[in-house]
Amino acid sequence: MKMRKNTVASLLEMKAKGERISQLTCYDYSTARLVDGAGIDTILVGDSLGMTMQGYEDTLPVTMDEMVIYARSVCRACQRAFVIADMPFMSYQAGPVQALENAGRLIKECRANAVKLEGGKRVCAQIKAITESGIPVCAHIGMTPQSVNAISGFTVQGKGELEARRVLEDALAVEEAGAFMVVLECIPPKLAALITKKTHMITIGIGAGNGCDGQVLVYQDMLGMSGAFKPKFVKQFAQIGQLMQDAFHAYDSKVKAGTFPTDEHTYPDGDCSDDFLAGLDRDYPTHAG
Ligand code: KIV
Repeated sequence: MKMRKNTVASLLEMKAKGERISQLTCYDYSTARLVDGAGIDTILVGDSLGMTMQGYEDTLPVTMDEMVIYARSVCRACQRAFVIADMPFMSYQAGPVQALENAGRLIKECRANAVKLEGGKRVCAQIKAITESGIPVCAHIGMTPQSVNAISGFTVQGKGELEARRVLEDALAVEEAGAFMVVLECIPPKLAALITKKTHMITIGIGAGNGCDGQVLVYQDMLGMSGAFKPKFVKQFAQIGQLMQDAFHAYDSKVKAGTFPTDEHTYPDGDCSDDFLAGLDRDYPTHAG
């Protein structure tokens, strides 16, 4: 049965009804099938894939071509979830024309449903250009990982009065520019709740408390696949990392002990007679050593 795909309109309706919106990051086809099948409302193909999938220490090296490959495979898997593809560092900062061209690639080549870009007032011209072309935009304010060098690390933003006002003004500015959704990352919960009250946009929190319209987590973080590092805002819903490692270890042991594969996992012998196979054995040299 074909499920109904979430849309900007259906997600805004959820906000209007006070229904909470779930979001997870995802970067590949097989995981996206599971996330979609679980009923998660929206999937973010985040540039966090630079860290989770590629092993970089931050998101800065991720390229547009790489985003296209990951986002395309996620989009192929999703029947119901609304897919938002991230615009990587330096794919929109140069200006509205660059932003529009690259947002267009994520829609045309991947079939994403929306794009996300980081920054408040400073990227409003880009948001306007993209939304005016019919591409829905999710903004991202507060802690913006692509600015890691400027903000001196992954730290909570908007704690002081001046900063809190700046974050609120960024939210109002991206809404005015046309964004329909905004990620609020690592800001105080009362500020996130205030922004949620002040805007028609859907607010998606991460490290922003429980007063947003929805919540996003990086899927490897919530499955316990990210090693020892665990930010305060992460809840591990399962220890899949340990389960996977145990399974890899069991496989390694069985292969080395010669106990896998058994007959259960082996095709039956074909129609060749034993005499024929003995002939083959005689006719071809056996390698030495
Ligand atoms: O890239 C990403 O995964 C993100 C989320 C953490 C919001 O931007």
